Amino acid sequence: MSVRPIHRGRRCRWLAAWAWLAAAGAAAAQVPAAPDADMAQRMKACTPCHGQQGRAASTGYQPRIAGKPAGYLFNQLVNFRDGRRQNALMAGLVTVLDDAYLRDIAAYFAALDLPYPAAQTQQADPSRLAAGARLVREGDAARGLPACTACHGAAMTGVEPSFPGLLGLPRDYLLGQIGAWRTGTRRAREPDCMGRIARRLTPEDIEAVTLWLTSQPPGADMKPAPAASLRQPLPLDCAAPAP
Ligand code: HEC
Ligand code: HEC
Repeated sequence: MSVRPIHRGRRCRWLAAWAWLAAAGAAAAQVPAAPDADMAQRMKACTPCHGQQGRAASTGYQPRIAGKPAGYLFNQLVNFRDGRRQNALMAGLVTVLDDAYLRDIAAYFAALDLPYPAAQTQQADPSRLAAGARLVREGDAARGLPACTACHGAAMTGVEPSFPGLLGLPRDYLLGQIGAWRTGTRRAREPDCMGRIARRLTPEDIEAVTLWLTSQPPGADMKPAPAASLRQPLPLDCAAPAP
């Protein structure tokens, strides 16, 4: 059996980066706030999977993290650490880090304003795309399905502080996350509105909605919308933003 050196090399590099990040995290616990340049250096540990500056491509599986709302990113880091999301690598990475450092990491990636990738699936079957667009914008009241825009924002770029944008993500990642909610391997703090929605979606809904989301070219403004832009009350209760 031959050993592929490129893989070995990459693995060693990120393992080294990981060990260093953990050590830096422990050190950061004593220092109030890390300067940005220092943070950028430490967060290189994330680039093998999340891409340069956290702007992973829309192909493959790894999700982009740059530009997502800070409250959302923080919640996910805590979810991996506390077992509400299952990913051995992510859990291993955050398990030694305290809330203050996770908050710094979330704030760092949230503040990065970088271009988004081109659309992937605009050639998909127009009737599937139209069905996806309908679910995103209108939902399906008869089945208790709210419009995705009611929480993820009219432009689907997310809403501060804890609703993520859903554009520019790989389709396999979106399918993986909806599937994980349906099987209970991804959870948010209660009330877990997204879990309820994922369990109401049919396989056809999931196909259509993920095709539509990945067919959208990036707009001029991809920043999450302000919290005040959401119509209250939300169609389902979601966990309050982490304090
Ligand atoms: C070895 C690959 C790898 C490394 C290194 C890595 N991640 Fe991840 N990360 C993943 C994968 C894969 C997922 C998606 C897991 C899933 O399916 O839930 C993920 C998910 C995430 C999420 C949730 C994204 C979302 O939209 O919900 C955040 C936040 C995150 N990672 C932050 C980081 C940070 C910060 C670092 C560096 C300190 C890092 N990751 C390093 C592979 C990695
Ligand atoms: C009632 C509010 C609400 C509605 C409506 C809603 N979502 Fe969500 N969604 C959320 C919240 C809150 C999260 C973040 C959950 C967490 O912190 O883990 C989320 C997260 C997600 C994620 C994970 C993103 C990532 O980066 O990992 C996907 C995918 C998603 N929603 C898809 C949808 C789709 C598709 C629809 C429409 C059919 C929809 N959502 C409607 C509240 C909502």
